[in-house]
Amino acid sequence: MRTTTLASTGVAADRVRALTEAERARYVGRNPTSQALAQRAAEHLMFGVPLHWMNDWATPFPLHVAAARGARLTDVDGQERIDFCLGDTGAMFGHSPPAVTAALQAQAARGLTTMLPGEDALAAAEMLAERFGLPRWQFAMTASDANRFVLRWLRAATGREVVLVFNGCYHGTVDDVFVDLVDGRPRQRASLLGQVHDLTASTRVVEFNDLEALAAALAPGDVACVLAEPVMTNVGMVLPDPGFWPQAIELLHRHGTKLVLDETHTISSGPGGYARGQGLQPDGVVLGKPLGGGMPCAAYGFSADLAAQAEAAKRAAPPGHSGIGTTLSANLLAMAAMRAALRELMTPPVYAGLHARCARLADGLRAVIARHALPWCVTQVGARCEFQFCNVPPRNGSEAAAAMDEALERAIHLALLNRGVMITPFHNMMLICPDTSAADVDRLLAAFDEVLGLLVD
Ligand SMILES: Cc1ncc(COP(=O)(O)O)c(C=O)c1O
Repeated sequence: MRTTTLASTGVAADRVRALTEAERARYVGRNPTSQALAQRAAEHLMFGVPLHWMNDWATPFPLHVAAARGARLTDVDGQERIDFCLGDTGAMFGHSPPAVTAALQAQAARGLTTMLPGEDALAAAEMLAERFGLPRWQFAMTASDANRFVLRWLRAATGREVVLVFNGCYHGTVDDVFVDLVDGRPRQRASLLGQVHDLTASTRVVEFNDLEALAAALAPGDVACVLAEPVMTNVGMVLPDPGFWPQAIELLHRHGTKLVLDETHTISSGPGGYARGQGLQPDGVVLGKPLGGGMPCAAYGFSADLAAQAEAAKRAAPPGHSGIGTTLSANLLAMAAMRAALRELMTPPVYAGLHARCARLADGLRAVIARHALPWCVTQVGARCEFQFCNVPPRNGSEAAAAMDEALERAIHLALLNRGVMITPFHNMMLICPDTSAADVDRLLAAFDEVLGLLVD
């Protein structure tokens, strides 16, 4: 018998189940080549995929890609999808942006990696310094690596052991930050594999937007740095309260703690990231994902003071491995891509287009949600926007996590994919790239409208 009990999301569980079942069958019927490849992959790829979390999409088996260009992705069954996931920000400037592919082609004929600098690295650092207001830069291959290296530098530079993060944060596969607040107490994330150290000994965690808790956590004077996204984006989106960051920065200064802002996702805000746009002055910034237009590369920048402290720490250390850097970091190919992306893609006119298109999407989502009388909200940060299953935007990680509903989320994602539009598999994030047209946005809105109709009308 059908039940009609509404969850706090405003959607009945049996409607979610029915939609999921129907959409799974539809997906299986329409993707025979992806299915055949998934079966073939089972033999030599662990979990049947190159990376285990590629199974975390809502699809019964992974969609296999034939090609991706601009805002579109074509699968191996020849179907085109409008891509609002964009490699979870890696392709925020579109798939294979011509400026970057041209730079890659030119550099590919002149060497790929040498362990020596070329002019591109210098040019990239000059542009980064100008845009982010931080004078000294280093490079890495991924934002995870950049964050890992930054924590080492910060601990070495300050002589302090503890790092502080906000509950529900994600900064890549940096072990130190996998500490959650559970019933008000720090707890190491149980899902972390093979971790043998007690991370709670050197990581402190408080809720975002909680200045009192932040002050208390800083009070012992042992916190090297706060590592934070200026807007939380990985537990759904959580905006800072008005005045939160200026007051937090004042507290940090009072306690001699540095602020490192991870702008890997919030680079969707503008060419200098969220902090520059808001006039905030961190001691360090981390960037990754779209920085090379889709080529793996990342960067981190320090203030003059912090860089001087970090350089002094390295000079004072015995010779040998610092634990910072990898062989292929800052390779010639990555630097050529980063220089081209900074020069041609991360520019004010490009961002103006992204933001306008994303505003159309955010307004459209709000209208569709209102039409179906659902208690959901929409948050936009530049080229990025997200709908969440709560009627007022969450103020911290716990509230954002409480608003999640995995079954509902997966049903919507799969139903959208079956209608030719793809959004990020984890939570409900959508991203605009320069190739995303108004008609593409309208396609997503029409599909969203149809899917919500199937869930609640
Ligand atoms: C804020 C933030 N920092 C760092 C990372 C890690 O990026 P990568 O997986 O490219 O190392 C992510 C990944 O989602 C992220 O969201």
